[in-house]
Amino acid sequence: MSGKEIELGVFLPIGNGGWIMSRNTPLHFEQIYDYNRTAAQIADRVGMDFVMSMAKWRGYESETDHWSRTLESMTMMCGLAEATEHVGVWATMHTTAHHPLVVAKQLSTLDQISHGRAGMNIVVGGRKLELEQLGLWGPQHLEHDDRYRFTKEWLDVIEGVWASDSFDYEGEFFSLEDVRLKPAPFTRPRLICAGNSDVGLDFTTSRADGAFVSGSELPVLGEQVAKVHRLGEEKGRDVKAYMMLTLVIEETDAAAERRVAHIQEGADLQGVQSIAAAYRQRPSREDTLRTADVLERRQGFNTEMIAGGPETVREKLEELLTSTGLDGIMFTFADYHNGLELFGAEVLPQLRSGAFIAPQPVGAA
Ligand SMILES: Cc1cc2nc3c(=O)[nH]c(=O)nc-3n(C[C@H](O)[C@H](O)[C@H](O)COP(=O)(O)O)c2cc1C
Repeated sequence: MSGKEIELGVFLPIGNGGWIMSRNTPLHFEQIYDYNRTAAQIADRVGMDFVMSMAKWRGYESETDHWSRTLESMTMMCGLAEATEHVGVWATMHTTAHHPLVVAKQLSTLDQISHGRAGMNIVVGGRKLELEQLGLWGPQHLEHDDRYRFTKEWLDVIEGVWASDSFDYEGEFFSLEDVRLKPAPFTRPRLICAGNSDVGLDFTTSRADGAFVSGSELPVLGEQVAKVHRLGEEKGRDVKAYMMLTLVIEETDAAAERRVAHIQEGADLQGVQSIAAAYRQRPSREDTLRTADVLERRQGFNTEMIAGGPETVREKLEELLTSTGLDGIMFTFADYHNGLELFGAEVLPQLRSGAFIAPQPVGAA
């Protein structure tokens, strides 16, 4: 019996604090690249499928200065492509901040450095302070849904120049004539988008290979996974549904519970409030308001979380994957180095020996 292909990746902590807002995490490092390189190399060695980093231009007002120190995603992933051999290397790009011809070439570069392991998380941006800092917020700038309309053209341009020796384009936002921009990537980069509004999800299921779903309850997650699959199928496309999940994995359940309690004792409540406020600012939708409430209840954990020793973590992951139909999970860790080592040694092999198998290798490395 062959199992279902499940992709397992790592959301790298390109910013201080990772996905935990607390004084009590080891992620308050200064040497961000070194920490991420070691995490990516462990992920590569133990057989994870991809590593991805976010794009963040401004941190949060908070006691721990959460995400006030972040590196740039594409350049970091180029470094990590050189430092790894097998794992997919996915960078995040804000579409309104970067000209598509520049991004087309950046991805061709990442494709060659990584020998076919490149990927891009496409983001339109949504946080006022962040876009304002880039000069991209205000009456003369695009509103939420328009940013997705823009992004459709942005991606038309990238895919168009890759497919043509001399590219012409006449759109609402881009007017291009005789663009010559070789080389195209040898392997088409994986495209991801985490937009979860109706417009965002429509873009994702029309143009990307993978979407992100969220939810605290398994049935809700299952419905969202089914929605991504259905929207993709309606367009004749196979779109994968991933979720983000924090793992607090220790040698025993008791040790993991102690770690969770310690993190929550040190919760950066000012940071939690400011990230919840950013969610409440998004176009008023019930799910974003609910997310803000959930964030406050989690006391420092920014995503859904599973805590336990290896056996517990494996059981919970199997239940999650079986009951939701997810195609993949992108993990964040309370401690990436020790967590990834333990996960790689004592969870991953068992998880992949039964109902769930690894996808085909992403690169030619
Ligand atoms: C896994 C994941 C990664 C994301 N990465 C980024 C990022 O790096 N930068 C960013 O500005 N937004 C990021 N976002 C936000 C999404 O791109 C998106 O804007 C958000 O989910 C709201 O959906 P909407 O744009 O359709 O309203 C991320 C969201 C998720 C779930």
